Amino acid sequence: MKIAITGANSSVGLNLLKHIVSATDIDVIAGVRSDRAMKSLPSSPQIDPRIITYQDSTQLAAALEGAGCIVHLAGILIEDKNTSYASANVDATEAVVEAAQKLGAKHLIFISVVGASKDSSNAYFRSKGLAEEFVKNSGLAASIIRTPILLGPNTAGASSMIGAAKQSKTKILGGGKYSMRPLDIDDLNQAILNCCNSDSREAKLYELVGPEPISYRDLIQKTAAMMNNSVEIGSVPVAIAKLVAAISSRIKGGGITPTVIDVITMDEVVNKNADGELNITLTPLQNTLEKILEHKKNK
Ligand SMILES: NC(=O)c1ccc[n+]([C@@H]2O[C@H](COP(=O)([O-])OP(=O)(O)OC[C@H]3O[C@@H](n4cnc5c(N)ncnc54)[C@H](OP(=O)(O)O)[C@@H]3O)[C@@H](O)[C@H]2O)c1
Repeated sequence: MKIAITGANSSVGLNLLKHIVSATDIDVIAGVRSDRAMKSLPSSPQIDPRIITYQDSTQLAAALEGAGCIVHLAGILIEDKNTSYASANVDATEAVVEAAQKLGAKHLIFISVVGASKDSSNAYFRSKGLAEEFVKNSGLAASIIRTPILLGPNTAGASSMIGAAKQSKTKILGGGKYSMRPLDIDDLNQAILNCCNSDSREAKLYELVGPEPISYRDLIQKTAAMMNNSVEIGSVPVAIAKLVAAISSRIKGGGITPTVIDVITMDEVVNKNADGELNITLTPLQNTLEKILEHKKNK
């Protein structure tokens, strides 16, 4: 089987490539946007790295030619001067859908987020919701997987968590009282590979979250304890953080905005976890944290 991955240099992409090379005979077109990103990809006879552009779906289709399944990972939470939700989340997904249609791809997988909705008042959730619409209405066999915060050795979520857990004192948004359902990145990538192998002919929506709810505060304290540390957690009031973010993001042309703060502090809740449907055995949170800390120790 040959698959294509967009945003192959993302944290999910790099972890997916590792799974593919270590445990499968799948060939991969690994799509990235720059030479710099290409250098971050592992080297393997199974991986064919290619520079792709999302500006022209015909060129994109030519670059992804030969792939039966397309895994669309490119996407952002934090905007900057060079990239916006409109370009990275909405337009890029529209281009990938058009390219998949041109190619006659057998399956398209799109990684979305818990909370995505085209009608959301939050610009990030709205952009992911609009992107989902392109996939849903594409006529292609597709899997849309909404995920919560992802935890794995190189995810942004794990870096912030460890950054806080190693302090003796830290202040976090709202005291970290919001509830999360952290998902092990290995579980997400197993789900992606299972979808690539699926013979479903429709577009399906899944919400895949981790096995246990935990507040961010407790997650930091649990991680700190596993690092033999004790951390005192204080609170940055959310309203003040949003005010500061509104000013600084306007000056910098991106970064942490009130929109991002609303995403971070939202309770991650789903009606039904798709682990059974996606044939995944969820990794217990304790094991996920052990893997992350082990990786950090060996770095
Ligand atoms: N990490 C999480 O906790 C989490 C949670 C929910 C959903 N997700 C979704 O999962 C996917 C992978 O997440 P991740 O955290 O692994 O991503 P990541 O490491 O932040 O990487 C982002 C990727 O998007 C690409 N990108 C940025 N701007 C772009 C644009 N304008 N057009 C096309 N591509 C662009 C980047 O390419 P360059 O390097 O060239 O900029 C990079 O490949 C994303 O769609 C994300 O929304 C992640």
